[in-house]
Amino acid sequence: MVRNVAPEMAELEPEDFYLLSGVEQGMRFSEWVQKEKIPRFSRLTAEEVEYRIDRCLDRELLERKTIQYEGYTLTFEGYDALALRAFSERDTIQGVGSPLGVGKESDVYEVQSFRPLALKYHREGYTNFREVMKERDYTSDREHVSWLYTARKAAEREHDVLEALYPDVSVPRPIDHNRHAIVMEKIDGVELARSKFEDEQVVPVLDLVLREVGDAYEGGYVHADMSEYNVFVNSEGITIFDWPQAIPTDHQNAAEFLERDVRNIVGYFQRKYPQLVGDVDVPAVADAITEIEFDSVRNHVSDGP
Ligand SMILES: Nc1ncnc2c1ncn2[C@@H]1O[C@H](COP(=O)(O)OP(=O)(O)OP(=O)(O)O)[C@@H](O)[C@H]1O
Ligand SMILES: [Mg+2]
Repeated sequence: MVRNVAPEMAELEPEDFYLLSGVEQGMRFSEWVQKEKIPRFSRLTAEEVEYRIDRCLDRELLERKTIQYEGYTLTFEGYDALALRAFSERDTIQGVGSPLGVGKESDVYEVQSFRPLALKYHREGYTNFREVMKERDYTSDREHVSWLYTARKAAEREHDVLEALYPDVSVPRPIDHNRHAIVMEKIDGVELARSKFEDEQVVPVLDLVLREVGDAYEGGYVHADMSEYNVFVNSEGITIFDWPQAIPTDHQNAAEFLERDVRNIVGYFQRKYPQLVGDVDVPAVADAITEIEFDSVRNHVSDGP
């Protein structure tokens, strides 16, 4: 798990950030940035670099490795600090609060702003990267697997999808994006997986989720990771989260992913409320969605109640 760097931000000085962003720039060329190159990337003197490296190593914002040369790389904490700095410099956020969720591939925190918002740091490539690094000669640039790049791309994609879908689809409103992090509206509610509905609400809620899936399709995207963990429920309705892996509807596998998304959601309701959701014709629901004519699963139940 990546440490929350927010409480340490006040101790960091502008030159510490020059150093971190210098290392970040060097990482475009190789995972471990040669010490001698850091002054050029960071526009600090060699002496200053020396001093800032120690400060950043102490705080675990950087890591050092000496193989053919002495090299430095950002840790996720160092990368988080750079993103946080950018958000606070442009006044997107004023402070970081408590965790809202820890996913397989993200850390989400509540943040203070003009109102409470959510900050999601993407962690794609992280575990992968660690495993890969154990087995590889990490100074060879040709095969360099950059978690930094993977995580940044994921955040960019998620932000783009939210921008495309909000407000036509019930997704968190996107606010800002920097590096591997996005800031969005904070949604109050509980995961669908932890919700319990009255009998008469069950099918209407399922329809609501599928209609949002339909609206997203109309907006050009298939979520491609739909599950009871990526849907939030509150008194105003439902919200669909977690869009980095969404694929455009003109993608060759879009139909397949859409059907899988529908199957996941319908399957969840069927397992949880077997008496209330009948035998749904999933391909027919997916077809109705692609034809922009989905209304209710009731129209696609073969032998239901
Ligand atoms: N905008 C938000 N408002 C409130 N809570 C949020 C928000 N975004 C995310 N969360 C919380 O953080 C959790 C993790 O976020 P998300 O589902 O987007 O990523 P993830 O779970 O890491 O991805 P994966 O499903 O691949 O593991 C969510 O389940 C939710 O509890
Ligand atoms: Mg999730």
